[in-house]
Amino acid sequence: MAEAEPTRLILNGTPVEVRADPETPLLYVLRGELDAKAARYGCGAGLCGACTVVVDGKAAFSCDVPLHVVAGASIETVEGLAAQQPPHPLVTSVIERQAAQCGYCLPGIVMAAKAFLDESPNASRAEIAAALDGNLCRCGTHHRILDAIEDAAARMTEAAR
Ligand code: FES
Ligand code: FES
Repeated sequence: MAEAEPTRLILNGTPVEVRADPETPLLYVLRGELDAKAARYGCGAGLCGACTVVVDGKAAFSCDVPLHVVAGASIETVEGLAAQQPPHPLVTSVIERQAAQCGYCLPGIVMAAKAFLDESPNASRAEIAAALDGNLCRCGTHHRILDAIEDAAARMTEAAR
């Protein structure tokens, strides 16, 4: 069988090439081909948000996005935020606030929050909660997670001054 043509994309600022079936979900490519395992498999059907990454500045459920759709796109994952020096405020705040219980939902929530706060840095708690409505947390730590995201938003605003 002929080898798949490479698909080029930018992962956390680094150009990468992937040889995979163009219909492969981005989530499988990230975890299986690019060793970026922060985005999680939850439902695999666009219903839980565990797989959320940022694609060209917008939050996307990576289980629901075929590879060919993101050819040439910039993909951001938690690995990129954690590798910043210092780490992105969202990473710092969820750690300092001990926002997680099991943590399974957090990579998706952090990336959904990243896309939202980049667009709406002065959002209220209610607006943040509404923006994260598609990201489920079965441990029920929503309040601590919202505390952490509000804290991160304040840090981001301060850093932008
Ligand atoms: S795993 Fe993608 S939305 Fe649930
Ligand atoms: S902390 Fe366990 S699912 Fe959210």
